[in-house]
Amino acid sequence: MAVLVLGGAGYIGSHTARALLEAGRDVVVADNLETGFRAAVPEQARFYEGDIRDRAFVDHVFESEQIEGVIHFAANSQVGESMKEPLKYYDNNLCGTKTLLDSMVAHGVDKIVFSSTAATYGEAERMPILETDPTEPTNCYGETKLSMEKMMKWVSLAHGLRFVALRYFNACGAQPDGSIGEAHDPETHLIPLILQVPNNQREQIAIFGDDYPTPDGTCIRDYIHVCDLAQAHILALDYLLKGGENNVFNLGNGVGFSVKEVIEQARSVTGHPIPAKIEARRAGDPAQLIASSEKAKTVLGWKPQYDDLHTIIETAWKWHQSHPNGYTE
Ligand code: UFG
Repeated sequence: MAVLVLGGAGYIGSHTARALLEAGRDVVVADNLETGFRAAVPEQARFYEGDIRDRAFVDHVFESEQIEGVIHFAANSQVGESMKEPLKYYDNNLCGTKTLLDSMVAHGVDKIVFSSTAATYGEAERMPILETDPTEPTNCYGETKLSMEKMMKWVSLAHGLRFVALRYFNACGAQPDGSIGEAHDPETHLIPLILQVPNNQREQIAIFGDDYPTPDGTCIRDYIHVCDLAQAHILALDYLLKGGENNVFNLGNGVGFSVKEVIEQARSVTGHPIPAKIEARRAGDPAQLIASSEKAKTVLGWKPQYDDLHTIIETAWKWHQSHPNGYTE
């Protein structure tokens, strides 16, 4: 039996496909290559190019392969874009998941682990955030992810499907050998943008606001290594395979770093002065997001390996130095 990784050519999906193979699992990857890259898919995985909104395509995958469980990353994930093009997010994230679930029910595939997000919480009232805290998304991306969680709940009740939603905080870093890593076009995430400066692709990094209610005035985030996220998906799938019930888990390190602290760590990793300039706040940014991941540790046995931001940025730097243009050389 194989694990189907939808969106397995993307950033977190490709690291998870790799981790599954390293754990000795049989892996099938499906991706429409809209934001993912064929070169990110491990050679040992069987690859299907297509879109989860295409029912015939999804049926074809389930009819061609013996699938024991699905890990679903196939979605759009840019907060800013979701505010400008909300219907794109409803179409891909919600309609896509609806078509996928239709096909899973029809083919008797009843286990799914999928990407949710810290953006489901919106402006959290307390830190660290617990899974039971209120969910009030402040952007359309977070809203569609929360709706996906709710869709799973009702489909579970009606059809017996079981799911795990993984609410990631700030995914970062790269495979330590530098072979795969983060590549978005356009890039909007802090760490890859910072590293463009020592890579001679950007003059300076912009700091979006230094008047937040935080110790140095810049936003605080919980940065979690992509390989630790990948391991959490395998543990979540195994939890479902062992009969675990529907569940939601935060995935973060439980430690917050400000934008200024991240830049300082990147200076230390690269030895480059990395000039920074204060700019206006970016719309929709909460001041602080820090996860409590105690539940994932207790219930799934998750043990993140990268709790040190310096090491995390080192892995990202190795990837960006060797692949300054991502997968498009
Ligand atoms: N930032 C800058 N300058 C930049 C880019 C980012 O100061 O050039 C700041 C942002 O304002 C924010 C922090 O760096 O305060 C981190 O920003 P990212 O864009 O790297 O990440 P976000 O926290 O905005 O978003 C991440 C994921 C989303 C997810 C969200 C949950 O990328 O998918 O966390 O809040 F929804």
